Formats: sequence, structure tokens, C-alpha cells
Amino acid sequence: MTHEELLALAERAAEHAYCPYSDFRVGAALLTLSGEVFCGCNVENASYGLTICAERTAVGAAVVAGHRQFSAIAIVQGAASSLEPCWPCGACRQVLAEFNLDMTVIFRAPEGLRTMTLRELLPHSFDVTRLQVP
Ligand code: THU
Repeated sequence: MTHEELLALAERAAEHAYCPYSDFRVGAALLTLSGEVFCGCNVENASYGLTICAERTAVGAAVVAGHRQFSAIAIVQGAASSLEPCWPCGACRQVLAEFNLDMTVIFRAPEGLRTMTLRELLPHSFDVTRLQVP
């Protein structure tokens, strides 16, 4: 699975975004260590705060299928665009960090593809070690 293929799957998922309030379509494609892909799109709600982001619907789809080891995620806004990367919100960074801070995050950018690690996107993340009482 190439980065470009993962981006294409995220773009297809964005077509299914349910976003009547923002009209802002987001798609995500999450790659497991075993090579499977789980996609997500944003799902909005009339009670705005209940909206779920594309990245988190992808995580939910993967986890319910029994996957917890992720190597990469592609995140896009709508169809192939040359806009700035569609940066994931803070909540989604934290939810992804639960599984692998070293996963590759893949975006479209004016220069073409852009990749970063989740660790770069979310330094000093909160994690389970903090929950352990000394
Ligand atoms: N959204 C995502 O799906 N992922 C993000 O990381 C940021 C924002 C969605 C939520 C909402 O449906 C729309 O984009 C506008 O905020």
C-alpha cells in the first residue's frame, strides 16, 4: 500500500462524509501493521458538539474489526486538492496516539505528499504511564 493509494482511499471516504452543517468533507484511511485499511469520514450532528471526526471513525472501524496496531493514516479534505494539509484536530491526535505515536501521517500539500510522524504532531502527549501511581 503506497502513500498515494492510502490518500486515494481517504479521498473516497471523504465522499461519504455526513457534514450538512459545515459542508467540510474529511476522509481518513488507517493502515494496520498487517496491511489492512480502515476508512473513516466525519459524521456531524444537529447537536454540533456530538460530531465525530473522520480520524476517529476510522479508528473505531479498525478497533471493532479487531485491529489495534496502526502504521499510517492518510487524512484529506475532500477530493485531491493542493491546499495546505488537513491537520488533524487535537482530540484526534490524542486518540491516534493511544495506539502508536510513531505512525506516519500522510497529507496532500502544495508540494505533493507530505508526511510526518504522529509524535511530531503531538509532542508531550498524555499517555497511560501518567495514570500509574508512583
Ligand atoms: N473534522 C474532522 O473530521 N477531522 C479533524 O481532524 C478536524 C475536523 C471535521 C469535523 C467537522 O465535521 C468538520 O471537520 C468541520 O470542523
